[in-house]
Amino acid sequence: MPMSTQPSYFRYTVTAALPYANGPIHIGHLAGVYIPADIYVRYLRSRGKRVLFISGSDEHGVPVTIRAQQEGTTPQQVVDKYHALNQQAFADFDISFDIFTRTSSALHHRAATEFFKTLYDQGHLEVKETDQYYDPVHKQFLADRYIRGTCPNCAYQEAYGDQCESCGTTLSPEELLQPRSALSGASLQLKKTRHWYLPLERHEAWLKQWILEEHKEWKVNVYGQCKSWLDQGLRPRAVTRDLAWGVPVPLSDINMQDKVLYVWFDAPIGYISATQAWAAAHGQDWKPFWQAPDTQLVHFVGKDNIVFHCIIFPAMLQAHGGFILPTNIPANEFLNLEGHKISTSRNWAVWLHEYLIDFPNQQDVLRYVLCTNAPENKDSDFSWQDFQAKNNNELVAVLGNFVNRTLVLVHKYFGGIVPERNTMTTTEQSLATYLQQLPLQIGQTIEQFKFKEGLQLCMDLARAGNKYLADTEPWHLIKTNKEHVGTILHMALQLTANLVILLAPFLPFTSRRLRKMLGITSLEATQWAQAGSLVLIRPGIALQAPTLLFEKITDELIEIQKQKLHNMGKL
Ligand code: 2FM
Ligand code: ZN
Repeated sequence: MPMSTQPSYFRYTVTAALPYANGPIHIGHLAGVYIPADIYVRYLRSRGKRVLFISGSDEHGVPVTIRAQQEGTTPQQVVDKYHALNQQAFADFDISFDIFTRTSSALHHRAATEFFKTLYDQGHLEVKETDQYYDPVHKQFLADRYIRGTCPNCAYQEAYGDQCESCGTTLSPEELLQPRSALSGASLQLKKTRHWYLPLERHEAWLKQWILEEHKEWKVNVYGQCKSWLDQGLRPRAVTRDLAWGVPVPLSDINMQDKVLYVWFDAPIGYISATQAWAAAHGQDWKPFWQAPDTQLVHFVGKDNIVFHCIIFPAMLQAHGGFILPTNIPANEFLNLEGHKISTSRNWAVWLHEYLIDFPNQQDVLRYVLCTNAPENKDSDFSWQDFQAKNNNELVAVLGNFVNRTLVLVHKYFGGIVPERNTMTTTEQSLATYLQQLPLQIGQTIEQFKFKEGLQLCMDLARAGNKYLADTEPWHLIKTNKEHVGTILHMALQLTANLVILLAPFLPFTSRRLRKMLGITSLEATQWAQAGSLVLIRPGIALQAPTLLFEKITDELIEIQKQKLHNMGKL
């Protein structure tokens, strides 16, 4: 049976967007990027593939300096604090990075500096002098985020120079009405400044061919955004900024003092420096992960990162030379919270570290809800009501119920010992046929980045198990045919053991608990290739006493969460 529809790669480099270390991680990050990426790599590892899963903190850029001002501290202290907090949050949710690095590290500064120098030396950058907004009070040029004004689209008066957080429109500072400094409130002056640019227009032809002709299989939202950028024509992008926090521009030119590399220039190089850091720590060579043509490079990002990963970073890699290009960028849209856009700066979010205080040990409930509700093709919404319904009606009533009923019955009728399988009726035979094709089907959904569908297929297996028990009624049959009850429960246990493997990419905590309950110790019995079979657990094995996998979430608990949001003044 074919295990996959993918061309065969020797290794996989999978990146998850480096989150800004200017605030904690929230459910939008998890749903949009980290859960899908984690599902993908867990699946690949279960298939025995060689995978490197990379992320880290994006520690430069204006948002960090703004946060430092707000918190009355330094940018370094801000990134130290949020790097530690976010690394812990990812570990708590078992996002299985091989490395979670940081861009303020010396190794990263060196990698970004060398990358810039190579582009510079090879003539891939050009210098330009332009008029930029200048704060006469603070005597400094202002980055887009430091410029506030009225949005030309919705008249919101607190729009940023790069985006209006009220209507979501992407802006450039010149479009803002009545621009003013966010630092001093003063009206801005236009002043000349010099910066280095990546002339993207030089890359337009090959990018058009590569994306629009050779990657028609990319997700519709990704392909569409790239097409619209390419159709509008590419223009030079500044890769340096007037700012004190970041990787200093490595040029001795007097005009380049007090300038740093643009955060979006150095951040994606963070994937490469993370690979270098991992390789150094493990005595490995980093190069094949970025340079060998038999490597599949996949970037998991949110929709606001599409252009950087599909157009700008590939242009940087291509200009530099010697690098492979990404195979896919399965970007998601956004997750809203109770009908409003999630916003770190406006404190409208469910933060991961707070969730675990209110719902201890319930990581998989959130992983489940966020995966089934992921913004795969359009924006989606998280509501506490839906969270409760999915837990109570699906995890408890379908998955938990099937596993619990099976284990309770085995304990009741067979003293907790796995019974033999005897003669199979047509019901068992068709269940076996259904089970046999499931790993391939689920695997294909994961390879196509349709994680919601993959998880639904796993839940369908639990549903099929419940239906099987309801149809065969072992609790009645036990009076007349214990032998066939043994077969029924044997089958139900094999389905449960299959769930250990099939659910593992999606719900790793649940998969591990199930595995323990079933006494599965051999690692081999948890590999994808084993799924679909009816011999995952052997008759005669003693099972642990069942414990509930999921518990109902009460209305009171949900009310507390809604109240929390209410206090933020948004509901
Ligand atoms: O949007 C963000 O949160 C960025 N910090 C993502 C950077 S991804 C990469 F290029 F590093
Ligand atoms: Zn607006």
